[in-house]
Amino acid sequence: METLDFDLIVLGSGIAGMTAAIHATNAANGGIKIAIVTKLHAMRSHSVSAEGGISGVLYPGEADDSINLHAYDTIKGSDYLADQDAVEILVKNAPKEIEFFDHIGVSWNRDDVGRIQQRAFGGMSIPRTAFAQDRTGFFMMRALYDELTQMKNVFVFHENFAYSLLIERGRFKGIFVLDLATRAIRLFRAKACIIASGGASRVYDFTTTAHSSTGDGIALAYKAGLPLKDMEFVQFHPTALIPSGILITEAARGEGGYLLNKDGKRFMEDYAKSKMELAPRDIVSRAIITEIDRKRGFKDEESGLGYIQLDLRHLGRKLIDERLPMIRDMSIKTLDVDPVKEPLPVRPAAHFTMGGIHTDIEGRVMIDEKKSAVQGLWAAGECGCVSVHGSNRLGSNSLSQCSVWGRITGLAAAAYVDSLGGAPLDKVSADTCKREELKITNLLDSDGSVNPYDVKAAMQKTMGELVYVYRTLNGLRGAKKIIGELKKKFKDIYIKDKGAVYNTNLRDALEIDNLLELADAIVSCAINRKESRGAHALVEYPKRDDTNWLKHTIVYKTHGGVGISYLPVKITKWKPEPRVY
Ligand code: FUM
Repeated sequence: METLDFDLIVLGSGIAGMTAAIHATNAANGGIKIAIVTKLHAMRSHSVSAEGGISGVLYPGEADDSINLHAYDTIKGSDYLADQDAVEILVKNAPKEIEFFDHIGVSWNRDDVGRIQQRAFGGMSIPRTAFAQDRTGFFMMRALYDELTQMKNVFVFHENFAYSLLIERGRFKGIFVLDLATRAIRLFRAKACIIASGGASRVYDFTTTAHSSTGDGIALAYKAGLPLKDMEFVQFHPTALIPSGILITEAARGEGGYLLNKDGKRFMEDYAKSKMELAPRDIVSRAIITEIDRKRGFKDEESGLGYIQLDLRHLGRKLIDERLPMIRDMSIKTLDVDPVKEPLPVRPAAHFTMGGIHTDIEGRVMIDEKKSAVQGLWAAGECGCVSVHGSNRLGSNSLSQCSVWGRITGLAAAAYVDSLGGAPLDKVSADTCKREELKITNLLDSDGSVNPYDVKAAMQKTMGELVYVYRTLNGLRGAKKIIGELKKKFKDIYIKDKGAVYNTNLRDALEIDNLLELADAIVSCAINRKESRGAHALVEYPKRDDTNWLKHTIVYKTHGGVGISYLPVKITKWKPEPRVY
């Protein structure tokens, strides 16, 4: 097996990953050899689809905004499950990151005197989301990629799928990677690794995310025996276009859009009187599903999906074209509905994995729920749970999280590599390489009776029906049973394409295996948490229960299935209060 050696591997090429690589390079004055390993072309990473913007207090003092207020909004938004020390790091550093992106060429929307504009987002007291039309992620990614391509020390391995993480004696050693173009298997060794491979919303079918959002990095850590945190908290974005799931940015409501039920009523006044359409996402999603369940929504006869309307007509064509051009374009192209003239049909879709790889505040990947970290391993962005979002993320806090912890982990990894000096890389035994090679060749040889795509479809259907905005204990237990059966079935799959070149059947099987593991973790954590908090709304336990459940869930993959324990939430200055908007 070919072995490639680096100082640092960055697994994933979204905003967190590219930011990490750039800051590691700058910290080392270019004297650090970095591999970016990505299963896509780097510019197709899902960050490119981020629409509405990035949060950060650019104008403290104006309209009474402050770093403290951003922290408070985030913590209240999280339903008090966020670690408050981590939130303080997020909000203090976010403005600097917006400035960084300004310097590398993001074309932010600006006001008449040239200041970066900020728009309103759900759960934020003040408009503090910087944006570039409704294509913020694309502009940020383009600027990062332009920077990276000028860095001679960074080697991007596009379309290379990492399928195994090698950790020995608490120390990162390397990753095993399948080259999708040729089916070559390679060992990438390095002193350090930053996992920045995104979320797992594709455990659901109705999702705003790309087909590639299969949580591979999270699953890699989980399969390597490392703990995940707060996996029960899946964010459902209130406004996804039906039937595709295409994201209609929250900025549409930030700019003044209304949510209407079939009686033409702005129903949010019954759920969040002061914030209305700009209540946090968990509250708006529950409101929409409640309206639909109570027969006050609409029904799409073709897909059978219930929906409500997002009305932007009163915003006018000029504003829509200036600030929301992409969602207009997509609505016309995919649905033949022009939001300038007609309301859009929307319902909540899986959007963001608020749990993820358990890290400490510096993004170091933890070995257990105590304080020990894997040496040389970090996680940043959506795949990591640091935890700043708790049980409900505020919109636009994700791009700041990716940027802030992209920088933190990039700098930390560069310092770690430097501290090791010229020490040689750890040897990896021939037996280990053989074992890892067999994982792929055995999978490719699979000749069972089960179509893996049927397993995926059944998993997504189960998650969509039983682990959605509202959950019941019976439903969750049923989901756990079905996912368990699907995992067994998956052992008997066949891979139709036996070829070497761009074998998407093989890649998809690896992804489905990852998704099944994560679906199991999500459901298991959800069954255990006997309260409703943020995005976890359990019908039998409708209230938040701080006495028993103000704690993070930690989940491990065990031989018997899933092991769960808990960890206290870090509270600094904001005592939990009733969450009213
Ligand atoms: O609605 C949006 O533009 C999504 C933003 C986010 O998830 O942060």
